[in-house]
Amino acid sequence: MARITVPRDIYFGRGSLDTLKTIQGKKALVVVGGGSVKRSGVLDRAFEYLKEAGIETRLFDGVEADPSVETIRKGAAVMAEFAPDWIIPIGGGSPIDASKAMWLLYEHPDADIYDINPFNMPPLRNKARFIAIPTTSGTASEVTNASVVCDYATGIKFGIAGFEIIPDIAILDPDVADTMPQSLTAFTGIDALTHATESFVAKFSSPFSAPYSLAAAKTVLANLLDAFGGDKNAKEEMHYAQCLAGIAFSSAMLGISHAMAHKTGAMFDGGHIPHGEANGIYLPYVIQYNAKDPDTKKRYGQLAAYAGAAGQTDDELIDDYIAKIRALNKALGIPANLREFGIPEGEWNEKADAIAENAMTDSLVMSNPRDIDIPAMRKVLQYIYEGKDIDF
Ligand SMILES: NC(=O)c1ccc[n+]([C@@H]2O[C@H](COP(=O)([O-])OP(=O)(O)OC[C@H]3O[C@@H](n4cnc5c(N)ncnc54)[C@H](O)[C@@H]3O)[C@@H](O)[C@H]2O)c1
Ligand SMILES: [Fe+2]
Repeated sequence: MARITVPRDIYFGRGSLDTLKTIQGKKALVVVGGGSVKRSGVLDRAFEYLKEAGIETRLFDGVEADPSVETIRKGAAVMAEFAPDWIIPIGGGSPIDASKAMWLLYEHPDADIYDINPFNMPPLRNKARFIAIPTTSGTASEVTNASVVCDYATGIKFGIAGFEIIPDIAILDPDVADTMPQSLTAFTGIDALTHATESFVAKFSSPFSAPYSLAAAKTVLANLLDAFGGDKNAKEEMHYAQCLAGIAFSSAMLGISHAMAHKTGAMFDGGHIPHGEANGIYLPYVIQYNAKDPDTKKRYGQLAAYAGAAGQTDDELIDDYIAKIRALNKALGIPANLREFGIPEGEWNEKADAIAENAMTDSLVMSNPRDIDIPAMRKVLQYIYEGKDIDF
């Protein structure tokens, strides 16, 4: 049996934040990250709308990028004390993901968040329902069944997944994402392209997910550069396209680009590799690796043709699709390989074996269309470090 689940309501359009006026309930905990939603006035507007709806509000702020287990426990404690019947994160993937995990602990204080999967996630909505308002255009956490949490003790991210944590309502108001700085537009946009691409070829891709993957890939390729340049229409297209990609990957899942991105983000001394930037670097190599499998090659050919790549054969179409991603990366300032990102050779050699082993433990290895083992993962990573086309 397969299943596709989306929020009950997706409100969209410039100004749609005012949907909050129509919410019925008693108390809302609003969860945000840094100061951007305060500075832009979005938070004040959200509070005004909730006040108009007669809802008592409280703010939980300061969720860090790549949210920690500690922050999630703190948020769950605030929920236990305040007892909201709505949880409303406004922010990027980090506050939305953090809120999902807090929600789980609010409803089930004894749940072991390290051990939640689609088969054992307990039912939610006995205490609260969930409205997600994304301010970035990439992760699509507002519609997905996943929450990515970081264990700062090990520097490793882990996922909490299950259909129960799909929000009840998503509000996609492009106005609230307009304030993204260029680098965030770039990284979240490439993340969305990676979601579209990986979900289309993933083992669980289906007739219900594939149309969303195709539409998202085509729209991102057509709009990301203009959005990066500040074009408002292109930014609006990106805000919706990333959500379509999310609907796709929430059921089809992803592949090894994400498995590697999850395990490399916080591994290096020189600094953090933002999630989307990591995917932008890895995706061309991952396509090359997966396309060695004949059935997957056909799928990539279909995707590339639909998204506007040129070529007569699957090989030509795929080469052009990869060339488009590389050109986009270059224009967005995303490096072509990990050496160029700035990881010193010594540190790489010291850590690469452990990264390969960690990446193999990521649940998204399972949905990657071509099988992989630790030595092959290590080799893919080495090619990504050196910037060599995958030939195995
Ligand atoms: N749940 C999922 O399905 C899923 C999918 C992909 C990634 N993720 C996770 O999402 C996280 C990344 O989320 P993200 O890329 O959306 O960024 P983020 O939430 O980590 O935010 C990054 C930074 O951008 C700022 N910011 C956010 N919106 C802004 C705006 N409109 N204007 C100005 N600044 C703004 C934030 O304050 C923060 O400093 C990672 O932890 C990643 O693992 C989750
Ligand atoms: Fe992602």
